[in-house]
Amino acid sequence: MAEDAILGYLEKNEGILDSGCFAVEFGIDHDEIINVTKSLNGYGLVIAQAKEIFKLGEKGNCGENHTLFQGSPEVQLYSVIPAEGISPDELQKRVDPTIFKVGFAQAMKNKWVERVKQLISRKVQHVDDKVKECLVHIQAGEVVGREEIDALKRRKLILSQTWKGYSIRKGPNYVPKRKKAATDLTREHLQSGAWKKLELKEYNFNAKGLPPEGGHLHPLLKVRQQLKNIFLQMGFEEMPTNNFVESSFWNFDALFQPQQHPARDSHDTFFLQAPSTTNWLPEDYVERVKCVHESGGYGSRGYGYDWKREEANKNLLRTHTTAVSSRMLYKLAQKPFTPKKYFSIDRVFRNEAVDRTHLAEFHQIEGLICDRGLTLGDLIGVLYDFFSRLGMTKLRFKPAYNPYTEPSMEIFSYHEGFGKWVEIGNSGMFRPEMLLPMGLPDDVCVVAWGLSLERPTMILYGIDNIRDLFGHKVDLGLMKKNPICRLGLQ
Ligand code: PHE
Repeated sequence: MAEDAILGYLEKNEGILDSGCFAVEFGIDHDEIINVTKSLNGYGLVIAQAKEIFKLGEKGNCGENHTLFQGSPEVQLYSVIPAEGISPDELQKRVDPTIFKVGFAQAMKNKWVERVKQLISRKVQHVDDKVKECLVHIQAGEVVGREEIDALKRRKLILSQTWKGYSIRKGPNYVPKRKKAATDLTREHLQSGAWKKLELKEYNFNAKGLPPEGGHLHPLLKVRQQLKNIFLQMGFEEMPTNNFVESSFWNFDALFQPQQHPARDSHDTFFLQAPSTTNWLPEDYVERVKCVHESGGYGSRGYGYDWKREEANKNLLRTHTTAVSSRMLYKLAQKPFTPKKYFSIDRVFRNEAVDRTHLAEFHQIEGLICDRGLTLGDLIGVLYDFFSRLGMTKLRFKPAYNPYTEPSMEIFSYHEGFGKWVEIGNSGMFRPEMLLPMGLPDDVCVVAWGLSLERPTMILYGIDNIRDLFGHKVDLGLMKKNPICRLGLQ
């Protein structure tokens, strides 16, 4: 509407339009005219113009209404002076005090009246009320001479204001009626042949995308997704980790971790008060686990201690996701054997003193491969494959100890940024004392590794205090500002 009116007007009026006059003439809101013209994109050009406009002053020394309707003070005063003259006292009674004061001074200045002794009389036969005339013009928005304006301003009868108006001209792309540029090529355009004449809107490559208003992902979630993708690309299946509460049996005993092991101490493990014990375990398997702990078997001597069922029954918050791996391997052993590649990324809990690198809960990433005849070489090979996908290509391995793996290796990676070797994970081959009681075939081996999710996330996001990443002290700004994704841990 406004657009057609503007373009049409430009066609008829020598290509120039004054936005203010136009708004009045066509009854269109001034701001709308400006907005429309700005979007005309070269069809019309907007040239900003600052204009001085005037408003009648409310507190002029004799009041706007007085002057506008009853005439200027000088004219009001002049008209009450009789032909024979009048005494100042008498004159004062005929007009109000401001009219007398201002009007008399002004009439004297104009040489309209004179004062001879005690008598004020008219000096001219006739006067014109130029002041009132000017105010009427100004009120109507008409042009008035500069001199008059200045005089009125001095007398505070008018106030000046700046008004931002625009003069609108024909632009280089001017047409009297703009065709709306299409933003999409549709099926209808193609069918009707309209596409041949279609004017397509140009892409604006400088337009900024809208900042995402929705939720923001925590860095841990983003890195978890990256890791998940890596595992999936490598053909791993995700293990169900949706139970934080686990029995000591699956968390420790099934993993050939002796019941006196310091990690099972309540200083390191959170035990549950209610429900304090598990209500189901596979009895025949429990029996085999008890035997292997007490007296060994499968070529092992065992630990030679009195294994207690009550210890195994105790519920706890799982201290590692290897508890899930033990359940999954047991499950796998109950069916005819098929090789598997499993992974999990989820939360674990440890009763640890909290400091800048430790929290009482964190996330573990775990991967395992279960197949016949696997060797340590296979483990090293898969670790190179996995970590190189995270940008870590220089690895070193150090012999280590876990109750459930033999051999065991700590994994180190050379961090270019830190200029040193940093420990990034733990790994090993699950012991026969763990796998054979489950019922897996003799020649089946399992290579596995684990690492924390927090460590790589902190390296990727440059966070040096774990409490800034996870927990109640985390600054939510971190979530909103951090990059959508980061590549490479080096
Ligand atoms: N469970 C080990 C830990 O908590 C990690 C690990 C997993 C080690 C698998 C070897 C094999 O650190």
